Amino acid sequence: MSYKKLKFPSNSLFLVTGGAGFIGSHLVRYFVNKYPNYSIFNLDKLTYAGNLENLKDIENAPNYTFIKGDICDRDTLKKVFEKYGIDSVIHLAAETHVDRSVNDPLEFVKTNVIGTLTLLQVAKEFWQKDNYEGKLFYHISTDEVFGSLDLDGGYFTEDCKYEPHSPYSASKASSDHFVRSFYDTYKMPIVISNCSNNYGPNQFPEKLIPLFINNIRHNRDLPVYGKGENVRDWLYVEDHVSAIDLIFHKGKIGETYCIGGKNEWKNIDIIKRVISITDELLGRESGASLKLIKFVTDRPGHDLRYAIDCTKLERELGWQPSYTFDDGIRKCVEWYLNNQEWLDQVTSGDYQNYYDKMYKGR
Ligand code: NAD
Ligand code: DAU
Repeated sequence: MSYKKLKFPSNSLFLVTGGAGFIGSHLVRYFVNKYPNYSIFNLDKLTYAGNLENLKDIENAPNYTFIKGDICDRDTLKKVFEKYGIDSVIHLAAETHVDRSVNDPLEFVKTNVIGTLTLLQVAKEFWQKDNYEGKLFYHISTDEVFGSLDLDGGYFTEDCKYEPHSPYSASKASSDHFVRSFYDTYKMPIVISNCSNNYGPNQFPEKLIPLFINNIRHNRDLPVYGKGENVRDWLYVEDHVSAIDLIFHKGKIGETYCIGGKNEWKNIDIIKRVISITDELLGRESGASLKLIKFVTDRPGHDLRYAIDCTKLERELGWQPSYTFDDGIRKCVEWYLNNQEWLDQVTSGDYQNYYDKMYKGR
């Protein structure tokens, strides 16, 4: 199959799914500000992980529209494609927390597999009549689909085979396969990226870094799974977004791109680093919160190590992360400590009233 470069009209109309979540909200803000000629439609179901307060600063931008909707709801998707003439999709909507997937795998299949397939089918229905000219379905995925590496066992690349272990990664792997199948079967222009762990502002405090910052602030236990020896490759969320921008505009149709921070940390080491910065910023004695660390029963099926080799993205598209880990993690801790109201609202659930207050009846 021959690969084409992607080409967009300068007034692209594109749909972001899951734009009220962690990465999605950074992505929406970045595109709304950087590309005033694009019309950006953010479709989000507003599950517990979706929070419109993340987008307060751009909610009235002329090139931005929020739509409350579920990617599993075919009729809603058809209305959106018909009404707005969507010509590309950046698909982030998903259930994303591994621990939740252990407790409720079916919810992950519904959103991540059925939802992605529903979206693909609607896009195909609207785009195939134009022979997919100028169209793109960009699927945002995770490095977890590749399984787990040994501590000294090399890196994930675009050529690695899929070997998911958790219900979450199995559902994301399945969604990746469906996206690729639409390329192979129907010639739909697609691109997929698989990224490592993101950190930064607005991440729901069930994930390691915001959960631990919040717990340190409240002097609560820090539950370290197993021995804390698992390794993750951390990337500042804005650097993920800049990679998505490049891939969206310059990637090659049908290809996969791996995105990573070249920044591997053992959990226990990154936890100690977060404790040290948080204690310092809270004016506590250095290391005061180390006593909060509690080693707890390991996550079932806990992948030992993720690490990405992103040479392809660097070589072909010239991507480089702009944050050093020192700068990124400090900025991240500062954000959570300076935005305690945000943390309190999401932990109490109050943020879920924001849609009713701001959008209902508009
Ligand atoms: P998140 O959990 O913070 O946000 C997910 C968003 O999707 C929420 O706004 C939620 O309301 C929305 N959503 C969920 N189900 C929906 C449905 N049925 N219809 C419409 N919207 C729905 O997720 P995130 O961490 O920002 O991740 C975004 C994407 O990036 C996911 O696809 C995830 O697999 C992928 N990813 C995440 C990371 C990471 O470290 N967070 C790394 C690599 C890839
Ligand atoms: O690699 C990309 C993935 O990163 C994304 O696809 C997922 O959506 C995202 O949730 C993230 O998955 P992880 O499972 O790696 O992230 P999490 O923050 O849940 O955990 C990071 C590591 O910390 C992991 O090894 C488990 C451990 N952990 C996590 C929590 C919440 C703990 O030890 N204690 C905890 O309380």
